[in-house]
Amino acid sequence: MYLDFFGLREYPFNVTSDPSFLYLSEQHREALAYLQYGIEARKGFLEITGEIGAGKTTVCKALLAKLDGSFRSAFILHSDLSELQLIEAILEDFGLNPPRRSKIAMIRELNRFLLEELKHHTNVVLILDEAQTLKIKTLETIRLLSNLETDKEKLMQIVLVGQPELRKKLASPKLTQLRQRIGVRYHINSLPADEVEKYIHHRLRVAGCRTGIEFGEGCYQRIHHYSGGVPRLINLLCDRALLASFVKGCHTIELDVIERSVNEIEGE
Ligand SMILES: Nc1ncnc2c1ncn2[C@@H]1O[C@H](COP(=O)(O)OP(=O)(O)O)[C@@H](O)[C@H]1O
Ligand SMILES: [Mg+2]
Repeated sequence: MYLDFFGLREYPFNVTSDPSFLYLSEQHREALAYLQYGIEARKGFLEITGEIGAGKTTVCKALLAKLDGSFRSAFILHSDLSELQLIEAILEDFGLNPPRRSKIAMIRELNRFLLEELKHHTNVVLILDEAQTLKIKTLETIRLLSNLETDKEKLMQIVLVGQPELRKKLASPKLTQLRQRIGVRYHINSLPADEVEKYIHHRLRVAGCRTGIEFGEGCYQRIHHYSGGVPRLINLLCDRALLASFVKGCHTIELDVIERSVNEIEGE
């Protein structure tokens, strides 16, 4: 639609979690650093929380891109899996094929794999996204999966990623043992006002915009106010505003266009 008009190669404000668009705000840089540290130092469980659209999945994908050949990883993105489906998904993502689809057979195969990787000093990483949807019982099973600890080393680093409810779920008395094994915790806050403008222009640059797009007075404040600094909401609003400005034939994004875009999104 508006790509040629603004000199863009691709849409800058999609809401998919594409790590090539990663903007390293202080928050996201720290989140990534904590994750990397926790995994390299074999901290066992790691917990990353943040509101919907804060950038959790994007940061995890960026993390995976940074891990080299000495790591094996599985990234489970789906929520709403039963315990058995989850174990099956984990095996599949590690590229494992148990002889039978029974819980015992699958766990045995996973253990075999983990011990084998330990022999080669491979660091095995399991990332569970949307972990706030997992049942307490399933979370406890996950702990048991990782429990084959040798004296010194943990067999697998498990990153639990979720909305703030995850923190509450992990506070359950039934998960005391798991909670005690969380070695790294990080909460991704939304972007502060002064990072909104930088975030927007970073995404425009990645999308191929050479000359930049001008935003009129008050626009960034309004975008920050509407989005609360949540990247996903910034994207939704900016995508609308670029479209509306294109329809008007206007290369500068003005405040009235932002305002109208907010009303449109709110009206839906
Ligand atoms: N640091 C960031 N740099 C670039 N884009 C980001 C960043 N954080 C979030 N986004 C964008 O915001 C949207 C939501 O991010 P996502 O990672 O899916 O959030 P979450 O998993 O926390 O719900 C995606 O389009 C993503 O590309
Ligand atoms: Mg996500």
